[in-house]
Amino acid sequence: MKRINLSNLIDQIDMNRIPKHIAIIMDGNGRWAKKRFLPRTAGHREGVERVSEIVEAASNLNIECLSLYAFSTENWKRPSEEVEALMNLLILYIKRELDRLHKNNIRLQTMGDIYKLPTKVVDQVEIALEKTKDNTGMVLNIGLNYGGRDEIVRAVKNILADVKKGKLKEEDINPNIFSKYLYTSELPDPDLLIRPSGELRLSNFMLYQVAYTEFWFSEIYWPDFKPEHLYKAIIDYQQRDRRFGGI
Ligand code: FPP
Repeated sequence: MKRINLSNLIDQIDMNRIPKHIAIIMDGNGRWAKKRFLPRTAGHREGVERVSEIVEAASNLNIECLSLYAFSTENWKRPSEEVEALMNLLILYIKRELDRLHKNNIRLQTMGDIYKLPTKVVDQVEIALEKTKDNTGMVLNIGLNYGGRDEIVRAVKNILADVKKGKLKEEDINPNIFSKYLYTSELPDPDLLIRPSGELRLSNFMLYQVAYTEFWFSEIYWPDFKPEHLYKAIIDYQQRDRRFGGI
């Protein structure tokens, strides 16, 4: 079996041009499990292990923000047992990792309407948000009951409300101001978006923010996604010429 030399890969990364914000659509848990004749939830469970590893790897590279798509506004359509399993895994992840996240100076943030999640999840999330709120290292931004369209509609409603209250003038609304009404108001737009599992679509993820984001796709299923894949994505990203519409 081919052994990957991790330090070789890390050496290829230009530390002066690290993407500030990486976003990941963690996909392929179900197919990973199916291939092994396991229930889909086994794929999600394995996926949590990759979350821990990738968070650590990203934080070690001094990435400012890592956004992870954990549960979409559309994921409620899944069988209730699978939704329940995902909720329990979120709780497990926070309970297990909170001390480590805090020790590594990571600040947890969420995007999406978390108050539609079961109370037991909201409670854990709130504990983690509170504990890590003053941390100054990487922001771990987790999409929970998140949808890009939902986020944009919510922003429009809040803008309308502020205009009505006289807090904002219609003529002052521009793309920059608009982005202040998104969940990511304090974060830079993603530089790099990673989607494993062979699917080539956005699935309602960070629709406004990815206008000039570089995409990196891979056939690997999320439960097989290791730090080496993150490093490869970054190396590939660093070869690209980002013109932002210029020449
Ligand atoms: C997509 O794979 C994955 C999800 C909908 C859930 C992702 C959640 C985790 C990895 C675990 C919990 C997250 C955190 C942050 C602790 P899929 O089920 O759609 O896979 P498939 O397309 O192969 O069916």
